[in-house]
Amino acid sequence: MDYFHYKNRELLCEETPAAELAAKYGTPLWVYSKRTLLHHLRQIQKAFAEVDPVICYSVKSNSNLGILKVMQEAGSSFDVVSGGEFFRVKQAGADTTKVVFAGVGKTDEEIRFALENNVLMFNVESEAELDAIAAVAGSMERVAPVALRLNPDIDAKTHAKTTTGKKGNKFGMDIERAEQLAAKVLGDKRLELRGIHMHLGSPILTTDPYAEAVVKAVEVVEKFRARGHDTRWINLGGGFGINYRKQEALPASAYAEVIVPAIKAAGCRLALEPGRFIVGNSGILLSRVIYTKREGGKLFVIQDAAMNDLVRPAMYDAFHRIWPASPSVDPPSDYEAELPGCEPADVVGPICESGDYLAKGRWLPPMQRGDLVVTFSAGAYGMAMSSNYNSRPKAAEVLVDGSSHKLIRRRETYDDLVAHELV
Ligand SMILES: Cc1ncc(COP(=O)(O)O)c(C=O)c1O
Repeated sequence: MDYFHYKNRELLCEETPAAELAAKYGTPLWVYSKRTLLHHLRQIQKAFAEVDPVICYSVKSNSNLGILKVMQEAGSSFDVVSGGEFFRVKQAGADTTKVVFAGVGKTDEEIRFALENNVLMFNVESEAELDAIAAVAGSMERVAPVALRLNPDIDAKTHAKTTTGKKGNKFGMDIERAEQLAAKVLGDKRLELRGIHMHLGSPILTTDPYAEAVVKAVEVVEKFRARGHDTRWINLGGGFGINYRKQEALPASAYAEVIVPAIKAAGCRLALEPGRFIVGNSGILLSRVIYTKREGGKLFVIQDAAMNDLVRPAMYDAFHRIWPASPSVDPPSDYEAELPGCEPADVVGPICESGDYLAKGRWLPPMQRGDLVVTFSAGAYGMAMSSNYNSRPKAAEVLVDGSSHKLIRRRETYDDLVAHELV
């Protein structure tokens, strides 16, 4: 579900033509639909309302201040993984007492910064980190709120690079170690064990891993309580899947159906860390064809977005729907099919890497120099993972609200590229 649609073979974002945005702001351009963002946040808020959860939008998925502000104003809190992300949510006006802080390598400075800002919980990933948090809290004469991140050894069946809850991943700890650390917290006045945390991987298109995870979570919470901890929080992380290929995403209510009853029965508070589900289908990457070429029996569409903008296809073999903004052929319902009037093409960027592509062998209508290309479902882990590789200035970002739009990050310039370098 999103608010991007074709009308008379012209792509609109809400009521705004994509071509108007490209003409005004240039390409490549990230375009976000505010209505789609809010739709997805509200879907989660509504589905889990019965247990009054804290929804912590996962900042890593898209950290633009304009997006964070929309989230903050709509009642979302935040999941951060660095001091930089903590700084961003403060800038966006977040209530930092509802912010959760994850990540395997928090530094003392980051821990101190989070404590100064009254973080809701650190998602603790190791004994060494727990010791560091205790030491920093002690030096500040504070009690640090912690949640132990469990590695529940659940296979969420995602890409190898995005699975996080299986034995052998660097994240979290097994249940035995969590129990040992819980015992350690009990004897330490600098620490308070508020809950447990898990993040299974991403994107997850079935509810089974969550059903399994919440059962394990409740078992652990009950053990902790039996030993005298006042453990109230279960944080099940993010990972809800979105529509990359067709309409494959589950509604938030499907996840709620397997999670909410267990949380209620255990009398726990629920935190969730959705990123992709909220922002993924809310954004597109708009680019312009520079050249087409036929070589080695293949058609290449060379356009001005590259792997430095959207690295997901190169990094995760990710599939994004791609279609022209003003196509000569109506968009298909199945973007993986062999389509009449179309021809297979590799959609590539200008970067000097064979891995620089947005799609390979994709059936597309005829395209020529100057045509606008749309890469859909690019709002999450798109701009957030972009770089300046090949000294390409980062693209601009625009937030659309109906028929109005505003720039939320200006396009970088050549001067920006060298601004931090010293000679
Ligand atoms: C700990 C944690 N929470 C939440 C998320 C957000 O996941 P998603 O954007 O798939 O919802 C991630 C993603 O890597 C994560 O590592």
